[in-house]
Amino acid sequence: MATKNFDWVQVTESIRSSYKQNQLGWWFYSLARTFNLTNVVEVGVLGGYSAIYTMAGMPDYGYWKGYDLWTLYPYNHVSRQEAFNNIFKADLLLDDFDLDPYGPLENVHKHILEPVDMIHVDVSNDGDTYKWCLEHLFQCIKPGGFLVMEGGTIERDLIEWMKKRTPIVPIVDFLHSTVDTRVFQWELWCKVDRFPGITVFRR
Ligand SMILES: C[S@@+](CC[C@H](N)C(=O)[O-])C[C@H]1O[C@@H](n2cnc3c(N)ncnc32)[C@H](O)[C@@H]1O
Repeated sequence: MATKNFDWVQVTESIRSSYKQNQLGWWFYSLARTFNLTNVVEVGVLGGYSAIYTMAGMPDYGYWKGYDLWTLYPYNHVSRQEAFNNIFKADLLLDDFDLDPYGPLENVHKHILEPVDMIHVDVSNDGDTYKWCLEHLFQCIKPGGFLVMEGGTIERDLIEWMKKRTPIVPIVDFLHSTVDTRVFQWELWCKVDRFPGITVFRR
């Protein structure tokens, strides 16, 4: 579990994140605490906002690993060093965390050798990201574990850069109405309807 006080919250104040608008960091903190998540992967770390909240909710013997393209991402990005400094400054009592030097989403499932409790994907997601993750990442998640995807609100589908991308909401609605868990072995577990939205699938 995180430090006794909440000093790490102050560190997140200077980190940019779309999750901040509705303080969704606390949602990650609660999920990690409630389910005692001990082995977590995050793809799309940026400055480490959701990473810090997630780690703060994990037990101190937990292991968290982050993947990102860092400075190779042509849009909004931060360096691996900057993300590391932020997480380090948060001074969490987590035994172990690691930031992969170069971790494209498309390769992550090849790196995860033991199934984990949760994979959080936040790589400027669109509907195609959802489809890809549902197809490739479940093998890397323990039964009862979570695939947590950024996005899922209508407002989020309407932001400027999404105009040329596949929207998320119709895919989530489709999955919600059709998925047979006996076949897919996962379910659409919950949706957080505050911008940008969080959609959670459970194995
Ligand atoms: C929206 S930000 C992540 C925000 C972060 N989770 C937070 O709490 O604020 C998206 C991140 O995904 C990374 N990214 C984009 N495409 C990627 C890909 N294909 N594989 C891995 N990382 C990617 C970018 O470098 C960027 O840091």
